[in-house]
Amino acid sequence: MNTTFENDLSAKGYIDVAIDPSIDLVAEINRLKKEKNAVILAHYYQESEIQDLADYIGDSLGLSQQAAKTDADVIVFAGVHFMAETAKILSPSKKVLLPDLKAGCSLSDSCPPHLFAKFKEKYPDHLVITYVNCTAELKALSDIVCTSSNAVQIVESLPADQKIIFGPDRNLGAYVQKKTGRDLVLWNGACMVHEIFSQEKLDALRLEYPHAKFIAHPECEDHILAQADYIGSTSGMLKFTIEDPTDTYIVATESGILHQMQKSSPNKTFIPAPPNNLCACNDCPHMKLNTLEKLYNCLYFEQPEIVLPADIIARAQKPIERMLDISAKLGL
Ligand code: 13P
Ligand code: SF4
Repeated sequence: MNTTFENDLSAKGYIDVAIDPSIDLVAEINRLKKEKNAVILAHYYQESEIQDLADYIGDSLGLSQQAAKTDADVIVFAGVHFMAETAKILSPSKKVLLPDLKAGCSLSDSCPPHLFAKFKEKYPDHLVITYVNCTAELKALSDIVCTSSNAVQIVESLPADQKIIFGPDRNLGAYVQKKTGRDLVLWNGACMVHEIFSQEKLDALRLEYPHAKFIAHPECEDHILAQADYIGSTSGMLKFTIEDPTDTYIVATESGILHQMQKSSPNKTFIPAPPNNLCACNDCPHMKLNTLEKLYNCLYFEQPEIVLPADIIARAQKPIERMLDISAKLGL
């Protein structure tokens, strides 16, 4: 590889090549996509302009299902590192690209695999369920992977006396515990985005919009979830706002999802639940590292690419496929 690229990738995490300002980026991305038989998969937390040109937009479960079944040669993953890794694990023969390698995840970072391996040793008779928001290495240490769309159903699909370790998200784990009545051993990790909602600002918003429904992602803390009219994954929340008759929603998750909510229900009002800082919206700094320019360069130069050791791919495949099988059986 060209050394400039190597420097860019190790220092910056993305290909930093100037783009001719006169080109129509969206048209060029679409042209390159056809030329290279590439598919763009985007998470709901991506910038609106990236969501608008994606071939598929979804939550973590939907994105994994798409990555497993695509017949494209190249998958451009507009999301974060663990999501692109999951796509690579499910489609190892394909080239998987991530516009910015530094698009990580605080939740994934909160569970270093070597510490989790030690933790796991303390519970030798427990089955390990890990939330998909973790590294490929952590998935390789797991028995079943889950997402926020299927965590409750996956736990429920196991025998009642099955002992379970759940990681890395303590909030999703506590929510699953509450919903299923199972006693789970929880890893103490969390997402920085879902743990900074301001109760004070939320109270003020609810007074201002007394008829609004409050909807929340299960990565939020228990005291936030306790007030919610609906709790679900990003696609669950989106579906709820489409089917529910209310016209105003206060939304406690990353603000990128509001783009699809507003597109699907143009006459409804969506208000992001405010974080405990000076911003009005709650953005994930990792998700928002991807830009249209980085996506263009990534597709043009076919870099940065996700590369994983073959043994990690083989070991991480089993728990993800187990999740996909259970989800397919349950029609999720
Ligand atoms: P879902 O879209 O699967 O609900 O996940 C939310 C999230 O935090 C992804 O990083
Ligand atoms: Fe990770 Fe939270 Fe960002 Fe999702 S929103 S990628 S869980 S830091």
